[in-house]
Amino acid sequence: MTCGWDFHGRTVLVTGAASGMGRATALAFAEAGANVAVADVAVTGGRETVKTIERAGGQARFFPADVSDTADVANMIDATVTAFGRLDSAVNGAGIEIETTPLAECDEETFDRLVRVNLRSVFLCLKHEIRQMIAQEGGGTIVNIASVNSFRPQPHQAAYTATKHGVLGLTRTAAVEYAPAGIRINAVCPGAIATPMLENAMKARGRDPADVAGRLSLLGRFGQPSEIANAVLWLCSDESSFTMGHALAVDGGYLAR
Ligand SMILES: NC(=O)c1ccc[n+]([C@@H]2O[C@H](COP(=O)([O-])OP(=O)(O)OC[C@H]3O[C@@H](n4cnc5c(N)ncnc54)[C@H](O)[C@@H]3O)[C@@H](O)[C@H]2O)c1
Repeated sequence: MTCGWDFHGRTVLVTGAASGMGRATALAFAEAGANVAVADVAVTGGRETVKTIERAGGQARFFPADVSDTADVANMIDATVTAFGRLDSAVNGAGIEIETTPLAECDEETFDRLVRVNLRSVFLCLKHEIRQMIAQEGGGTIVNIASVNSFRPQPHQAAYTATKHGVLGLTRTAAVEYAPAGIRINAVCPGAIATPMLENAMKARGRDPADVAGRLSLLGRFGQPSEIANAVLWLCSDESSFTMGHALAVDGGYLAR
């Protein structure tokens, strides 16, 4: 990816950076000069992301963390600041999509797991990231990865959809609360993006990728993780200095239809 942003001297934390759009975002920040804290519960993938960054001459460290766990989130932020001195930007991208049934057949365990990993995690990450950004000079920027499902009902994904609506509630409220402290908080809402999550979801439902791509974007293709990274980097850069509390759909026009 050719990158127009300059993040030299800045430290960026990306959760969910072992795979998919989190990894693409970590690579893009590193290419733009940032020190990147790669966080994920998946150790092998997280280390691979760091190796890829280092092979390209960038700076990164891997911090294993379950972002639904309070102690892990606090440790992840502490480790980032210990390694790189501060936290300028954070991207809360870790998430799961495990539901395949109508609401009345969804068990409580599945609902609770989705809420923990997709919503509680964003609450915890925001809380600890904001505390660090307030404690340091200069504020910061945060991007939460929501979904087009933050705006619409999605049959057979009631719990997932509820968590992604919730991510926007957290994003907008935190944006209002912390704008005066110099912290800009926004969300990116991806459409159908070619990642392991989407591949697994299509397999679990027996869907034909070509058919899904045709229905879920005006371009007849899936988005690439790098197309999400581009939006995230813009929202974390000084070029978006007047943008806050915004939910930016990056969906190949899907919501416009
Ligand atoms: N792929 C899509 O089409 C799509 C569309 C809309 C929104 N999203 C959202 O985008 C984000 C990234 O998804 P992706 O498609 O890149 O998926 P992915 O499965 O490729 O990557 C998700 C990453 O999150 C990590 N993760 C899961 N649970 C975690 C936990 N408890 N703690 C730390 N890390 C954890 C996984 O290990 C993985 O590396 C998710 O929040 C997802 O809900 C994806």
